[in-house]
Amino acid sequence: MVAGATVLRSLLTLASSAPAGVQAGLSNDTISNVRSRLLESANASWELGTAAEALTELYWPSLSVFRPSAFPPPTTLNSSDSASDVLAIARNTVRTRPSQVLPLVADDGAVGDPASIGVAVLLGAWTYGNSSGSGNASSNPFWEAAGNQLDYLLHVAPQTNDGAISHRTDQVQLWSDFVYMAPPFIAYFGALQGGESGLGLMQYAYQQCKLYRNYLKDDSGLWRHVTLGSWQDDTHWATGNGWAAAGMLRVLETLANSDQADSLTEETNDLTIWIQEIINATWPLQKENGTLYNILDDDSSFADSSSTALLASVTYRMAYIAGDDTHLNAANRAMALIEKSIDDDGWLQNTVNPYTFSSPNTGENHSPEGQAFVLLLQSAWRDYWLAQRKSL
Ligand SMILES: *[C@@H]1O[C@H](CO)[C@@H](O)[C@H](O)[C@H]1NC(C)=O
Ligand SMILES: *[C@@H]1O[C@H](CO)[C@@H](O)[C@H](O)[C@H]1NC(C)=O
Ligand SMILES: *[C@@H]1O[C@H](CO)[C@@H](O)[C@H](O)[C@H]1NC(C)=O
Ligand SMILES: *[C@@H]1O[C@H](CO)[C@@H](O)[C@H](O)[C@H]1NC(C)=O
Ligand SMILES: *[C@@H]1O[C@H](CO)[C@@H](O)[C@H](O)[C@H]1NC(C)=O
Ligand SMILES: *[C@@H]1O[C@H](CO)[C@@H](O)[C@H](O)[C@H]1NC(C)=O
Ligand SMILES: *[C@@H]1O[C@H](CO)[C@@H](O)[C@H](O)[C@H]1NC(C)=O
Repeated sequence: MVAGATVLRSLLTLASSAPAGVQAGLSNDTISNVRSRLLESANASWELGTAAEALTELYWPSLSVFRPSAFPPPTTLNSSDSASDVLAIARNTVRTRPSQVLPLVADDGAVGDPASIGVAVLLGAWTYGNSSGSGNASSNPFWEAAGNQLDYLLHVAPQTNDGAISHRTDQVQLWSDFVYMAPPFIAYFGALQGGESGLGLMQYAYQQCKLYRNYLKDDSGLWRHVTLGSWQDDTHWATGNGWAAAGMLRVLETLANSDQADSLTEETNDLTIWIQEIINATWPLQKENGTLYNILDDDSSFADSSSTALLASVTYRMAYIAGDDTHLNAANRAMALIEKSIDDDGWLQNTVNPYTFSSPNTGENHSPEGQAFVLLLQSAWRDYWLAQRKSL
């Protein structure tokens, strides 16, 4: 964590000099503990993908899709911008992938989840071997792995008749989670590839968001969790709404910061509205102490800090990206709740069990994805303040 120290220092400076009466960010120590617990606990494919994204946004922001400087990233990463922890996840994924398998993780059961690591793998491809840079070297194992993953999503995975890629490998079933896992990878692939085919991929990522919204959105603006297939989850799962909003946000920013943004204005306008739809429907349901409930509109469910962190991160981002600060106060209250909910070891407390979706974590159980959401929240909060100071 030597390289991250500069970033952490500037975070601290920012926190301590935030205007009086304004919600402060999390402390240096807290963030560093949360990061350590994240790296210890993330293991499932989507947890690794979400961890890689959170680490990129917080510690290596110039390489994240939220900054124009990421399009394209430098082909050589120096020691102060090494993305070492992100590339370690990519490298380990590519190294352990069986060679006959198209997805980045074998036998996952989910179509979308392995693809979530794809953005980190693409960064590995772009920066592999320095001088060869983005080159087409068939000897670049990261390109090969990313290309195979894309091929699987586009040509092998089950789909609905109208082209929505299934979230599951064994049947056509759509989960809101998918929107965070696959479309951001497809869009980033397109942005790095460029040209007509790159533009096509960015439009394809947008199209997946559109199809998923058609299938999952209710009149309230909230999304149901799972539809089609052998079982459904019609509840407005808070984390699922967070996955959808945060996934569309990454697609939005990938398109908007790519060098083909001028050809994608209709797509970016739609994505902006679709994200606002979710956050507009979410925050009126926030509880007195700042928390959201695991099922957003069901008071018989329970307080869930993970989704509160994720949806607050989207809200800070939208406050400066779309100039929509309607829900800033709600995000500030969420940030205060999250700060209170992190224990001395850096575990986020009061999380939903991410493997059942429907029960709270108890005892020694924690949420790896919740750990990542805290880092997403901190980086969104920081970037909101940088934007206020016109330094973003
Ligand atoms: C912040 O974190 C960095 C890296 O862990 C550390 O070097 C620095 O001393 C910390 N600063 C404070 C004030 O705790
Ligand atoms: C970690 O993930 C691997 C592969 O998905 C799985 O086989 C293993 O059981 C997991 N380990 C734990 C501790 O969950
Ligand atoms: C490292 O690379 C980044 C991005 O290319 C650049 O902005 C920065 O100045 C470089 N730092 C050093 C120490 O060379
Ligand atoms: C890229 O160059 C740096 C500095 O020379 C070196 O440390 C690093 O290992 C190189 N990366 C690859 C993938 O060859
Ligand atoms: C790789 O080569 C193919 C065919 O020559 C080309 O279409 C593609 O854009 C290249 N990809 C990169 C990343 O340069
Ligand atoms: C969300 O709420 C804001 C503020 O009231 C409003 O400007 C915007 O049009 C709403 N967007 C959607 C999609 O509901
Ligand atoms: C916040 O309030 C809810 C009740 O709405 C409660 O269940 C939860 O435990 C509270 N959280 C904290 C951290 O106090």
